[in-house]
Amino acid sequence: MPTWRLRTTAGRSALPVETQATAVAPLTQAPADRLSRIATLEWRDFAADVSACTACVLCRTRNKAVPGVGDPRAQWLFVGEAPGAEEDAKGEPFVGQAGRLLDNMLAALGMKRGENVYIANVLKCRPPGNRTPEPFEVESCRPYLDRQIELIRPALIVALGKSAATTLLNVEATIASLRGRVHRYRGVPLLVTYHPAYLLRNLPDKAKAWEDLCLARATMQQLVAAKGEGLQSPVAGPN
Ligand code: URA
Repeated sequence: MPTWRLRTTAGRSALPVETQATAVAPLTQAPADRLSRIATLEWRDFAADVSACTACVLCRTRNKAVPGVGDPRAQWLFVGEAPGAEEDAKGEPFVGQAGRLLDNMLAALGMKRGENVYIANVLKCRPPGNRTPEPFEVESCRPYLDRQIELIRPALIVALGKSAATTLLNVEATIASLRGRVHRYRGVPLLVTYHPAYLLRNLPDKAKAWEDLCLARATMQQLVAAKGEGLQSPVAGPN
């Protein structure tokens, strides 16, 4: 593993750009009462609601639902794909091997899980055998992620891997085509990088992930500076 060491991102723009990819239409129409309930959930009810969810088959095989972990007012939000076996056993995201790498990535940025950082997944329940999430499962679960983002109001989202990136951006595209520039999710700046589990299997791409994290750090610095100068916050705008 290369050392996770901070470098500058000289010459790279941290300004949001439009996502160049094909929009994907929603697959399903969830019952309106479920959607409106989730859309108005408060933190005190959030985890219990997720744990009681039976909207897809994953509820039958989960041990624990994994709503998310961290500072509910965090500026940084990291979003992964779905819980694995260790997360399913503990009820906390990214506690396995990929989680240890994520913690190292955070440490390299001077950050720590739970301190100004929130970690969530697209799916709140483990797909058996860690299979790829089915589109219906993603559509069923995404209202929870949408609501989490509304409650947290992060300054910056980092999408870890293809599931998170394509779900949040509502596009079908590769990580390679999405990384290296700032996108937006409902006005919130969003950066895309490789999933830690992928990086564990593809060591040479750690250097690219590190570039992405440096861009994320530079983007956050710009956002904080813009806020300090009283400029209109880039997080407040429309999609
Ligand atoms: N991979 C993910 O995407 N999320 C987790 O919580 C663990 C592994």
